Amino acid sequence: MKDNKNSNKMWGGRFEDKPSDIMEQINASIGFDKRMWRQDIRGSIAHATMLAQQEIITKDEAVQIVNGLNKIAEEIKSGDFEFKASLEDIHMNIESRLRDMIGDVAGKLHTARSRNDQVATDFKMWTREATHDLIGQVESLQITFDALTTKHGNDIMPGFTHLQAAQPITLGIHMNAYWHMLERDKSRLQDFAVRINKCPLGAAALAGTPYPIDRDFTAKKLGFDGPMPNTLDAVSARDFAAEFLYITAQCGLNLSRLAEEIIIWATPQFGFIQLSDSWSTGSSIMPQKKNPDAAELVRGKTGRMNGNLVQMMTVLKGLPLAYNKDLQEDKEPVFDNFDALSLCLQAMKGMLESATFHTDAMLNSAEMGYTTATALADWLVMNLGLPFRDAHHATGAIVKMAEDKGCKLDELDLADMQAVNPAITNEIFNVLSVKK
Ligand code: ARG
Repeated sequence: MKDNKNSNKMWGGRFEDKPSDIMEQINASIGFDKRMWRQDIRGSIAHATMLAQQEIITKDEAVQIVNGLNKIAEEIKSGDFEFKASLEDIHMNIESRLRDMIGDVAGKLHTARSRNDQVATDFKMWTREATHDLIGQVESLQITFDALTTKHGNDIMPGFTHLQAAQPITLGIHMNAYWHMLERDKSRLQDFAVRINKCPLGAAALAGTPYPIDRDFTAKKLGFDGPMPNTLDAVSARDFAAEFLYITAQCGLNLSRLAEEIIIWATPQFGFIQLSDSWSTGSSIMPQKKNPDAAELVRGKTGRMNGNLVQMMTVLKGLPLAYNKDLQEDKEPVFDNFDALSLCLQAMKGMLESATFHTDAMLNSAEMGYTTATALADWLVMNLGLPFRDAHHATGAIVKMAEDKGCKLDELDLADMQAVNPAITNEIFNVLSVKK
């Protein structure tokens, strides 16, 4: 057989020249897809085992292949493995090393398989693990929100609409809102973990393979619920990547709303919260500053997470079936959202657990903002039978009066309020203080 020394050993049979440097650079994904080395080795071991079981290769050949793959795993773990851009991706880097180790029999591993079903399988396994990891991290942050909900169940703060003091609530209820947002994020991750769990392996390049493979065996061995029935779909579907990106972006988005609140609450003007030294930074010019950088970065990283989702959907739009190399652009956004969201979940936990909540300032602010005005209007409706619109109007007049006097609603005299509506009684004071 003619051996073209210059061409790629893995696919270069018909090639006489090697790729140009830039071609090599644009083509290579090893810089990022080496993150999937565990999944690639696991997938190849399952495939080789199945090939032997189906007598497509011999038992002895499978043993050599599996032993070699296990040795490669050791090399990668210990940092002895040399990743080469000339070998494009993680799949060919590992297979090429296998050939160095065990010789030509390594070439039998790729029987009845293509990199197209191989990469889809590896990537699904990686994303599945990341999903379970994130479920654990979300649950861990929920424990923090649970503790804050209990601890601050009676600590009054102003609830806001339009960022204007609206009605008194408790800090516990506010924290509990985030627990519920995370509960939905978690349930999205859990639903997704079910949907992603069908195995592409065995679809080969796109049209399946003439060998008597056992797709149920490999699917089961790799922890999937079963094979993907349509082979074109198996190698070209990346909606799982887009879905993972949406779910992670949405979770980041929920966290960024709290990040924004923390940033506002930490201003001296609000003074609701003080971040610990270990979760804030100073300014190199203004000695008085203590900046909520971690919260700002949770807010900021949401921008890149949203961007990654748009990137993936843009790559997928209009791609004809089945595999196209564009799909190699699927991994970086997914890895990046996983990394970014993991950091955000952990930073939020650290910030919240070490922060000091100034509940006295919150109470004070709730009292200053006439936040019981709605309760006053409701009292007028329920006790005097006023239509709500009239009660609203009367309450407005009472608030104006308190404003003019520079006092809180519960510091007004009964006589003052009776000037607005003579039927008002002393009972009104039951609803005027925020504590009530
Ligand atoms: N590195 C490629 C990717 O990430 C692997 C699949 C390559 N397949 C192919 N037919 N060239 O998508």
